Amino acid sequence: MAHQWQGIIHEYRDRLPFGEGDEIVTLGEGGTPLVYARAISERVGAEVHIKVEGANPTGSFKDRGMTTAVSQVKQTDVQVVAAASTGNTSASAAAYAVAAGLKSTVILPAGKIAAGKLAQAIVHGAQLVAVDGNFDDCLRIVRELTDAYPVALVNSVNPYRLQGQKTAAFEIVDALGDAPDIHVLPVGNAGNITAYWMGYNEYAGKTTLASIDDSALHMEPVATKVPQMWGVQAWGAAPLVLGEIVQNPETIATAIRIGNPASWKYAEAARDDSKGSIDRVTDEQILEAQKVLSTEVGIFVEPASAASVAGLIQAAEQGKVPDGATIVCTVTGNGLKDTATALGEADVDLTPIAPTLEAAAGVLGL
Ligand code: F0G
Repeated sequence: MAHQWQGIIHEYRDRLPFGEGDEIVTLGEGGTPLVYARAISERVGAEVHIKVEGANPTGSFKDRGMTTAVSQVKQTDVQVVAAASTGNTSASAAAYAVAAGLKSTVILPAGKIAAGKLAQAIVHGAQLVAVDGNFDDCLRIVRELTDAYPVALVNSVNPYRLQGQKTAAFEIVDALGDAPDIHVLPVGNAGNITAYWMGYNEYAGKTTLASIDDSALHMEPVATKVPQMWGVQAWGAAPLVLGEIVQNPETIATAIRIGNPASWKYAEAARDDSKGSIDRVTDEQILEAQKVLSTEVGIFVEPASAASVAGLIQAAEQGKVPDGATIVCTVTGNGLKDTATALGEADVDLTPIAPTLEAAAGVLGL
């Protein structure tokens, strides 16, 4: 019988802070496809693979960190998990809370959450709080809330989140046989770039600032190298590029509409220690990359996810992509979460026709 993927804690338990006897809350997250993208490879003159994180149970990479964060909460008496979110974290927290038998509270910037993500929080029974402010305001509030009440914070400032998310790097090395030369990913609150950098290092027998123990130093290295980390922010929400907080972040990629990333220092360390970069792309470039992924590769991603590919294409245009390099782009969330943005101005004629072959053939110009 084919191996059934067991979720990231079961698959990588020796590199995660869980023992054999611990109760694990999982929806089978991880084990996502790494897809070779010929069209993008040809376009940038490298070997490009896409890590499809939209294939996780709730449709984003957040599930990797939620299985670890919520499993840890299950070891305590706390009955409620809480998160500030631009949408995906809340969807994931709400789903894993259901799986764990806990309650969830999500604090969201009013009017700035894609419809699919909001639907997920609602169907999973989260208590919703919409704030007249941006994500950074929501994160401040949820930090104060979890300080004051018996509620567990499951944003990526919770170290268990990053522990789970680092497993995406493990999967990539396991699939490619070694680390890629370059890893490109979108950056919002900067937890994920921190987690990938930790994962790549730990698989190479090293630790990073974000590591919570030194077990990696005592384990057989799996990778012989670590990649350059290339982070990509949205033009109007690019604090790490500008080197200063953005008070009123704006971008069509609402998932990364963040002006004051919590993991700022870790992200800078990942950039500098890997000899990488953090750059920014416009909303137009994001939408164009989303289109390249859907029409030339066959992967439908949400706008924030396309920032990685937009950043790679921009780097290629600037002559910054080394010939033939092995590159992985993470696409972080599923396109179905935000169909409104994807369809945008799309002009599709869905006027009904008579139910006959002739009428259908006529519309098709056959
Ligand atoms: N891509 C997507 C689809 C996201 O939802 C996020 C973050 C990111 C990229 C950026 O990752 O924050 O680790 O740098 N979404 C968070 C949320 C903020 O609330 O769902 P990051």
